[in-house]
Amino acid sequence: MSQSTLLVCALCRFPSGEKERDGVRGGQHLLDQLQAVVETRADLMQTIEIKPVKCIAACDRACVAAFSTAGKQTYIFRDLSPTDSVDDLIRFAEQYRDAEHGRVPHSERPEGLKRSTLAILPPIPIATPALK
Ligand code: FES
Repeated sequence: MSQSTLLVCALCRFPSGEKERDGVRGGQHLLDQLQAVVETRADLMQTIEIKPVKCIAACDRACVAAFSTAGKQTYIFRDLSPTDSVDDLIRFAEQYRDAEHGRVPHSERPEGLKRSTLAILPPIPIATPALK
């Protein structure tokens, strides 16, 4: 099973516009919570790598995270709560890990992520339809 990458913008603000709480950015808070859960789950530790990034250029829709894996679709999520999105992202990580080509239908995504889907990109390399 290939390892998936969950990119999380560490610089995102809290949705309230607060830059930091107790010196921690909203994105970093989300990262810390995700990492703490993954470290308690051997199955996730082997299949999901959480990587902080510095801005995904969706700053006005913080927090922002993306799932990406070679050969699978890439999902970009926005408007994630730094305090309440962890369970949904972990559930999606399991679905994404288990889905062929990473395809998780909208109807099956965690409720909190359905309205947060910013973009879905095709797997790389992109299959080009045959031309007649
Ligand atoms: S600061 Fe997070 S997307 Fe730009």
